[in-house]
Amino acid sequence: MAFATLGTPNAPISTGAPGNPYETDKLVNEYLLFHYGAAGEVLPYEWGPVGALDYPVRCVSECVTAADLPPGARGLDLGCAVGRSSFELARLCVEVVGIDYSHRFVEAAEQIRTAGGMDYFRLDEGECGTQLRASLPAGVDPERVRFEQGDAMALRGDLGRFEVVLMANLIDRLREPVRCLERLPDLVQPGGLLVVTSPYTWMQEYTARKNWLGGVAGDGSRQNTLDGLRSHLEPAFQLEATRDLPFLIREHARKYQWSVAQASLWRRSR
Ligand SMILES: C[S@@+](CC[C@H](N)C(=O)[O-])C[C@H]1O[C@@H](n2cnc3c(N)ncnc32)[C@H](O)[C@@H]1O
Repeated sequence: MAFATLGTPNAPISTGAPGNPYETDKLVNEYLLFHYGAAGEVLPYEWGPVGALDYPVRCVSECVTAADLPPGARGLDLGCAVGRSSFELARLCVEVVGIDYSHRFVEAAEQIRTAGGMDYFRLDEGECGTQLRASLPAGVDPERVRFEQGDAMALRGDLGRFEVVLMANLIDRLREPVRCLERLPDLVQPGGLLVVTSPYTWMQEYTARKNWLGGVAGDGSRQNTLDGLRSHLEPAFQLEATRDLPFLIREHARKYQWSVAQASLWRRSR
């Protein structure tokens, strides 16, 4: 890939929702690369953590199988960002709803759905970078997918029920995660699947400490986020399995975030 210098590549910051990092050009660009970048575009070092690539694809392929779902299944991707996992769910579901709080992310996902792709800027060094294109994944029917802006803590009442609900890296970005968890029994069909993935990066900027589901010292009930999830999801859901899912977010050519999310798979009680 050529190393290009662009005029004003990464400078303008969205004024859509001041203070929300997910409305900035920087994160729109980083997430388009994270979701749609080819291996060589994200990580040109073959000795790098290649097993952490394609996380939004693996959140679906490693956690949901066709055997889990009946014909005509509906899927919900809460905190869908720029939409890759929603498109992957559409390989298994006839209808997928992707919901995100960021207007910019939803606009990007919708552009990829309707136009088949979107150009974006990959930062390489300083203010220089490379123009790339995020494309609708091959073999996905875009008509199966719908994106909308919404709040996972205050979802509209008429969403209906889903055979599979994915919440990828969302829970530790919510102001009040319990408000989202409380709605889930209503959203997941009896016998349906809930997939929660997260690196459990609790930060006061997003979630007041009193609302953290885990990682709270001196409080035995909230040291471990998986136990925190269990205390809110059972008995409506039973934990079926957990998996470690590494992921890699590229900030620039020589700076990456390598993280390991825990995926927990929950079955809605019948
Ligand atoms: C860490 S990103 C993860 C995105 C995506 N699922 C992934 O794995 O790449 C967190 C996402 O949650 C979204 N988000 C934050 N608060 C939200 C809320 N209240 N309702 C819906 N989405 C929210 C952000 O806009 C962002 O897209």
